[in-house]
Amino acid sequence: MTMTTVHIPLGPRAYDMHIGAGLLEKSGALIAETLRPTRVLLVTDSNVAKYQHCSSAVQSLEAQGIACNTFTFPAGEASKSLYTYGKILDACTGFTLNSGDALIALGGGVTGDLTGFAAATYRRGIAFVQMPTTLLAAVDSSVGGKTGVNLNAGKNLAGAFWQPRLVITDPETFETLPPAEYANGVAECLKHGVLFDEGLFAALEGGGPVSEAQIARNVELKRGAVIGDERDTGKRRKLNLGHTLGHAIEQTSGYTIPHGAAIGLGMLMMARVFCPAIEDRLRAALEKNHLPTQCEFTARELFSALEQDKKRAGGDITVVAPLKIGRCELRTLPMEAFQRLLEERL
Ligand code: NAD
Ligand code: GLY
Repeated sequence: MTMTTVHIPLGPRAYDMHIGAGLLEKSGALIAETLRPTRVLLVTDSNVAKYQHCSSAVQSLEAQGIACNTFTFPAGEASKSLYTYGKILDACTGFTLNSGDALIALGGGVTGDLTGFAAATYRRGIAFVQMPTTLLAAVDSSVGGKTGVNLNAGKNLAGAFWQPRLVITDPETFETLPPAEYANGVAECLKHGVLFDEGLFAALEGGGPVSEAQIARNVELKRGAVIGDERDTGKRRKLNLGHTLGHAIEQTSGYTIPHGAAIGLGMLMMARVFCPAIEDRLRAALEKNHLPTQCEFTARELFSALEQDKKRAGGDITVVAPLKIGRCELRTLPMEAFQRLLEERL
């Protein structure tokens, strides 16, 4: 079994991401080595729970003498809520997890964000491990420590920065992912390419599976943005390419358009507004990777969701503007100017 390790050097919060086919069966040993917990609560969703992934992880943990309970919530973005978060905390107390124990997120970004937020707040913070089972979670949400839930007013409005102690990615879990979910992960990979690495973009723009080495490359690129800006006040904000409009699309669709697809659309719109020279290439890359390129909402509808999300009218907004494939910059402009640009160019 081969294993690639990407180290995330965040001082006292440093951790590794291990990537390797079949790694779920070794997850117990890797967790025991890094954390030595007595008990763990494994959080997963109702889709992931149906597959062998969950039982492999549990067996592997129990083989190390770690007591393991499983908490399963209904799959989907609607579960990324204060309600589910509260249920996870109740499951922690029900299983008498204490400060030396750990939470484990086995699933996609929804599972990781929810579990991480519970870990950040339970007993003022306990350890957690990310075991991403979607490509999106592997290349993006499992690394960097952003955790949280959605509120009625918008995405990720309650949350915390809380780094995992370990990330274990077994790409074999992606074999059960519906193709549309795999495509959502490719959208985040294309985002990293547009932001930082034309070579990565070129390797992915024709479609096809994302290799283990390309997963590691994505994590390295994300690491580059997070190191030195863990709290997202400077260069890390570049990772939000496509998110300003992407979140508005997700919200306006009532979360029927998934995160990755919405980010793809958001990126395409930002290209149209700030860098039309890359628009055709980006659209072709999205199409080849089975991602949508047509947005059903008007600029006005998106802008109104955005204002609601930001809870403000007027003021400035910082957006990520592509300059070419592989290079983007942060640009701050008045909300009204951004609205005008959207209405003129979309
Ligand atoms: P998700 O967790 O909802 O997973 C997508 C779907 O795939 C779900 O239906 C899930 O049940 C299913 N699934 C997961 N693994 C599976 C598998 N191996 N086989 C079959 N089905 C499987 O969503 P996602 O796309 O992974 O993540 C999106 C979420 O991540 C959003 O809430 C977004 O805001 C968040 N996010 C967070 C960050 C961060 O930095 N924290 C970054 C990007 C996205
Ligand atoms: N997904 C954006 C970030 O982690 O900052």
